[in-house]
Amino acid sequence: MSFTLAEARAADAADKLRPLRARFHLPEGLIYLDGNSLGPLPRKTAARLGTVVEEEWGEELIRSWNSRDWIGAPQRVGALIAPLIGAKPHEVIVADSTSVNLFKLLAAAARLSDRRTLLSEAGNFHTDLHIASGVADLLGLKLDVAPRADVEARIGADTALLLLTHVHYKTAERFDMARITAKARDAGATTIWDLSHSAGAVPLDLNGAGAELAVGCGYKYLNGGPGAPAFLYVAEHLQERLVSPLRGWMGHAEPFAFTDDYVPARGIDRMLAGTPPILSLAALECGLEAFEGVTIARLWSKANALFDVFHALVEQRCPDLACITPRLPEQRGSHISFRHLHAFEICQALIAAGVIGDFRAPDVVRFGLTPLYLGFEDLWQAVDRMAAIMDSESWRDPKYAVRGKVT
Ligand SMILES: Cc1ncc(COP(=O)(O)O)c(C=O)c1O
Repeated sequence: MSFTLAEARAADAADKLRPLRARFHLPEGLIYLDGNSLGPLPRKTAARLGTVVEEEWGEELIRSWNSRDWIGAPQRVGALIAPLIGAKPHEVIVADSTSVNLFKLLAAAARLSDRRTLLSEAGNFHTDLHIASGVADLLGLKLDVAPRADVEARIGADTALLLLTHVHYKTAERFDMARITAKARDAGATTIWDLSHSAGAVPLDLNGAGAELAVGCGYKYLNGGPGAPAFLYVAEHLQERLVSPLRGWMGHAEPFAFTDDYVPARGIDRMLAGTPPILSLAALECGLEAFEGVTIARLWSKANALFDVFHALVEQRCPDLACITPRLPEQRGSHISFRHLHAFEICQALIAAGVIGDFRAPDVVRFGLTPLYLGFEDLWQAVDRMAAIMDSESWRDPKYAVRGKVT
C-alpha cells in the first residue's frame, strides 16, 4: 500500500473526528506519538486547575471538601471512566497509582482463596511483577511467572490469582479478556486485569467479559497529566467481600466518626486509603471530558485506519525496522512497536526531528496512535522524517546515544 501526502490530507479532510484535535494543546511543529505513555495537555486543564487552585483552594479553602464536592471526586471521576471500560459507574474509583491499586486488589483477592499460586506473564510490565512478588512474599504465596504462550496452560488447581496486562506495554499484543477470564474462573481462579494500555484506547466490556478486578493508569490514553492518579475496578458482586489491605480512613464506613476500629465502607469506596489528590483529580477529570460525545468504538475504528497507514508507510520507507505488533485489530492495542538494535538512538534522532515516540529497553521503539488528536498527515510526516533519519543514518551521531535518567 502506498499512501501519498495528498491522500493523507484528503483522509484528514474527510475525518469526522478531526475537530476533537482542538480539545488539546499540541505544540506547533511537533508530532506527538507518545500519548500511550503521557497524554497531551487538554485545553481545558490549565483553566480548570487555575479555578481549583485560586477559587476552591484559595478562597473557599477547606470548605471546598463539601461545597465543591472534593470529597466525591474519586467516585465522580471513576464514573467518567466506567463507560470507557464497560463498567457500571459505582464499579470504578480513582485513587493512588496503578502499582498501589494492584497491591490492594491482589492482596485483598488472595485472602478470598485457599489456593497458594499467583500466576502472571514473563515480560509483563515490571511494576506488576514487582508488586506481585511483594504480595506473594507477604502472604506466603508462590509467584509463577510463565512465558506468554504458556500462561493459559499454567492455570491449575492451585491458581488463586491470574494477573495479566490486557495490552502488552511493549508489543501491544492483546489478550482475549472474555475467554481468559472465563477459563480462569472455570478453573477456580480470579483474574486481575491491568488496563493501562487499554483504557481510552481499545473497546472494553468488563461487565460483558465477566471481569472481576482491574486497574489502570490515568496519565496515558486518559490524558490526566504526569503522575495522574490511577483507577481500579471491582465487579459489583465482589465489592462487599473484598477488604483492602491498606485500611486508610478514606475507605472507612465513617471516616469522620474518628473511631479506633476499622469498618470498611460499603461498595468500592472501601478501596480508598488516604486523602484524595484534588488537583490531580481535577486534571484527570478534564482529560476524561475530552472523550465527551465520542464512543471508543468510533475512536477504535479511526485508530485502525491510522495503524494500517503507519504500518504500511514504515514497511515501505524504513524496512530496517521490524514490526513486533500484530496486524489484526482484535489481537492488539493502539500503539505500534518496532525492533532495531539501535532503537534508542533512532528514537532520540526522531525526537530531535520533532517526532516524539518512545524507547523500551533493550531494542524497541514504540509509537502511540491516538485518534483523539492525531491525523493521517501527522503519520505521513512522522514517517517521512523517520525515513530521512534511517536513510542518512544520522542516528549514528554520538549525541543520540546519551541516555537520561528516564529513557
Ligand atoms: C502496564 C502498566 N502497568 C502499570 C504502569 C505504571 O503504573 P504506576 O506508575 O501508575 O504505578 C505502567 C506504566 O507505564 C504500565 O505500562
